[in-house]
Amino acid sequence: MKLQRLAVIAVLTMVVLACAKAENKVEYPENFQSWNHVKSMVLYADHALADPFEGIHHIYANDIALDGFSNSQFAEGSVIVFDLFHSNEGGGALQEGDRKLTGVMVKNSKHFSKTGGWGFEGFAGDSTDQRLVSDGGAGCFACHEAQVKDSDYVFSKPR
Ligand code: HEC
Repeated sequence: MKLQRLAVIAVLTMVVLACAKAENKVEYPENFQSWNHVKSMVLYADHALADPFEGIHHIYANDIALDGFSNSQFAEGSVIVFDLFHSNEGGGALQEGDRKLTGVMVKNSKHFSKTGGWGFEGFAGDSTDQRLVSDGGAGCFACHEAQVKDSDYVFSKPR
């Protein structure tokens, strides 16, 4: 009886831990291309951030995030996506190549208190589960914090 009770407690503990971990993970933002388009930009090879951001990127935000661009304070549940493609120049045109990565910021002050209330994640290429961030977002946040603290760590402004 005692053993059984211990086993139940062990299983419950594992479930609670698994849930806590899942909540601290940034979800892949399904269908973000149908959200609000914030801006697009091309970074050439001689741009300071060319490694790793060279290429064509588009930025999207969900509805919850929209007010934040003017308030400089983003509501809980805001999600902003940085969708980056290789760029191919030729024939008088600059065109999108394969997707390089999809960067995501999710506002959840409780779960991501160490990185300004934002969860940072990158998904490699077209993958929805191959994660690129292994330091809890510290590297991403360091740059956002150093440069755009006053706009709640967000660079882009809608045009
Ligand atoms: C060296 C600086 C730097 C680092 C490191 C960095 N970013 Fe950014 N990030 C930027 C800049 C600059 C922009 C604005 C791009 C624009 O204006 O189009 C940006 C924009 C973004 C955006 C759109 C929201 C915004 O702030 O405009 C997201 C999402 C994003 N980055 C995610 C990430 C993730 C995830 C990482 C880590 C894997 C990361 N960033 C690392 C400089 C950085």
